[in-house]
Amino acid sequence: MQTVETLTYKDGVLTLIDQTLLPVELRKIDCRDLESVWEAIKMLRVRGAPAIGIAAAYGVCVGLQTAGTNPSKEAFFRRLDEVIPYLASSRPTAVNLFWALDRMKAKAESVRAAVETGAEVFALLEAEAREIHEEDRRLCRAIGRYGAELLKDGDAFLTHCNAGGLATADYGTALAVFFAATEAGKKIHVYADETRPLLQGARLTAWELLQRGIDVTLICDNMAAMVMRQGKINGVIVGADRIASNGDTANKIGTYGVAVLAKHHGIPFYVAAPFSTFDFTLADGGGIPIEDRDPKEVSHGFGKQTAPDGVAIYNPAFDVTPAGLIAGIITEKGVIAPVDRETIRKVYE
Ligand code: MRU
Repeated sequence: MQTVETLTYKDGVLTLIDQTLLPVELRKIDCRDLESVWEAIKMLRVRGAPAIGIAAAYGVCVGLQTAGTNPSKEAFFRRLDEVIPYLASSRPTAVNLFWALDRMKAKAESVRAAVETGAEVFALLEAEAREIHEEDRRLCRAIGRYGAELLKDGDAFLTHCNAGGLATADYGTALAVFFAATEAGKKIHVYADETRPLLQGARLTAWELLQRGIDVTLICDNMAAMVMRQGKINGVIVGADRIASNGDTANKIGTYGVAVLAKHHGIPFYVAAPFSTFDFTLADGGGIPIEDRDPKEVSHGFGKQTAPDGVAIYNPAFDVTPAGLIAGIITEKGVIAPVDRETIRKVYE
């Protein structure tokens, strides 16, 4: 099942669906320079941890085009040292961004001594970015296959934010599980949290599931407890932006609350993510940097003022769900359960 073509790259131009316009308008934009790639990530035109990583990898190529035709190898590497930290400054939480940039940097360094011109490195970096993109397609399908085994025919699952094709190369992580279960012939129902303040659940998840003909019911975030108590939910699956070595998981703000509610109601809470979302440098979730975003996202949701001028606003974009609340992490190598340091290592290795 092909879902959406979130981003493409050709001849130095990164083309992506402008996700801020959905669901009203499906429009693609071209990023022709480094600044427009940075802006697209910062403003969530492209968003979701794996998609941010892919965009950043292609962003390196967009930013190196001119240097890529410069015969001087030194000039190429000087530009690389500007481009990578600049892209890394766009958003702090999704580790896939840094993972992809590190991988691009390592690729360039691995051939530094052997090549004569920047153009040779540029060609290798374009191939590496394409490989990161293709890999993500494969990982998402594997996650879908493993996750689908956790769902029974007739189940209803809740999801928060958007971890679908729009957030990845094309198939998703949490939503991949629903796509794969449907492909396997299971009839499932999805409840989508609207996901304040930027409404990724309402705008993107509901849109993607409708596009694919999957039954979806949209609820406001504050309805999840009631829906669970009414016995309508068999499980929860969400994506992740960064997972620490012990399984503590950062995901869209509100995820932690959903996990607490699921625990209270005895409902299994799963995370679906590739290993590129794990940060093994962090012992636990305490060290995960949480992005603080513009207060206007809370006070002026989509242009309309909904809070009085001058009110203090706190707008963290992510929260951390402790590993103890997570029944399993669905990865491309299988389902990690129980979620602890040892089991994560075992599945990874
Ligand atoms: O701020 P966003 O929209 O980039 O946040 C996205 C999420 O929190 C997703 O759940 C996460 O990145 C996983 S996407 C497969």
